[in-house]
Amino acid sequence: MKRITWLIFLVLSLLGLSCQAALLSPTPIPDAPLATALPDSLPTASAPAPSPLPTLQPTAVPTEIAINGADSLNDPYYPQMGNGGYDVLHYTLDLSVDVANNEIRGSATLEALTTAALTSFNLDFHGLQVSAVTVNDAPAAFSRQNDELIITPDTPLARDTRFTTRIEYSGRPQPVDDAASPGEPVGWFADAGIYVLSESAGAMSWYPVDNHPLDKATYTFRITAPKQFSVAANGLLISEQITGAMKTTVWETSHPLASYLTTLVIGHYNLVTETGPNGLPILNYFPPDAGGDVTSAFKPTSEMLSYYSQVFGPYPFESYGAIVLPIEYGFALETQTRSIFTTDFVDEVTVAHELAHQWFGNSVSLTTWKDIWLNEGFATYAEALWIEHTEGKAAGDAYMQDIYANASQHHLAAPEDPAVRNLFADSVYLRGGCVLYALRLKVGDELFFKILRDYYSRYQGGNARTEDFIAVAETVSGQDLGAFFDEWLNSDQVPALPGQ
Ligand code: ARG
Ligand code: ZN
Repeated sequence: MKRITWLIFLVLSLLGLSCQAALLSPTPIPDAPLATALPDSLPTASAPAPSPLPTLQPTAVPTEIAINGADSLNDPYYPQMGNGGYDVLHYTLDLSVDVANNEIRGSATLEALTTAALTSFNLDFHGLQVSAVTVNDAPAAFSRQNDELIITPDTPLARDTRFTTRIEYSGRPQPVDDAASPGEPVGWFADAGIYVLSESAGAMSWYPVDNHPLDKATYTFRITAPKQFSVAANGLLISEQITGAMKTTVWETSHPLASYLTTLVIGHYNLVTETGPNGLPILNYFPPDAGGDVTSAFKPTSEMLSYYSQVFGPYPFESYGAIVLPIEYGFALETQTRSIFTTDFVDEVTVAHELAHQWFGNSVSLTTWKDIWLNEGFATYAEALWIEHTEGKAAGDAYMQDIYANASQHHLAAPEDPAVRNLFADSVYLRGGCVLYALRLKVGDELFFKILRDYYSRYQGGNARTEDFIAVAETVSGQDLGAFFDEWLNSDQVPALPGQ
């Protein structure tokens, strides 16, 4: 475009913008669905225009207009999880728990940063009774709509400012339904003491939360419960203080944590501690009657930590350990720094799987749930790596050949974008694991392990997408891997393994 034409074009576009804005006024506050599509700051041109002639000086219009924070982060699988307009930095959950009656009472205090100017904002919260809300210590109005808690501060919040909101609440928490596991709700459970298993939507069953892995935050858990119980959560055990019949236990983590990876376990447990590589505290909670068959599966934890640290990169967090629940539920979950197992689901391979998630899933987190293979495919392939480390290359290879045979015999579906009801299906775990096995066969050991390390080092502590992993693989290998990944991730057919 010639310079003069370009100038005319520019003036015309500015005119167009202002006219559009003039049409919108005098209601500059869009409703929520529109707000979800808005960038962090509204274009200055949407201010009411006093005359049809545009004012081109940027100083002539207000810099921003407060909006209602969006009620969604637009995740295709969980449209109601997460909210827009702010970023939580830290949660302090200060809760008294009546274990016998499953009643809780207390507060959640959130320190957050606005990413837009806000007249109101949402949190995800299921059930329970909210008695009071403050924003920056001033009482705030609030309302409930399904699983949304809508908070309206008495003064709108400016963009890019820190604020604190405190929600006082009480009630009897119940697990919530989740589209990924129909008939198997997730979150807070009150059988066998208390335990929390949240993947994917369960965190909102016990505290108000920006409930999506895109908004990771640090946490303090201050939990008061009858003193005879052990209380375990994520991070480091900071203090225990007994007052009469009650005990207040404080746990804290200074590494960002996705809400589905928070946990709280209250019950009768034996705490077994050890020191891992580089002095890492390992805190295991076992049922008092757990036999050697249960506890021995965790003996290799320290060696696993050093092995995976060497293969993937340094262990991401300040502590590790397991909690074995005294129930049989065929379940394990990679709750950050403190993976949870049920007594019937404790074996060395599962212990390795949950530990590997600390790197892949927990430190490098999903941007959208449809990329779940980045969690489960990686953790499944990490099982084979552990077997390779302990039993030799042939054993690791045989492990993946079995998984591949299973995937092809059963015509397992594509692991990428599996539909929310298949989030934890074999296609994601087994065929997802085969993606990495096939990649290693394709590019060779040296490049393959460099890809894993580079991907982890680039995205640790944050979020990644499938495209990000592919980009790292292509950069490291210098190869165009578009067709390879497309086949492995998206094709209806299970592809043949490279070179076989
Ligand atoms: N992420 C867990 C694991 O692979 C499995 C969670 C399954 N969740 C569920 N709601 N069924 O260890
Ligand atoms: Zn897993």
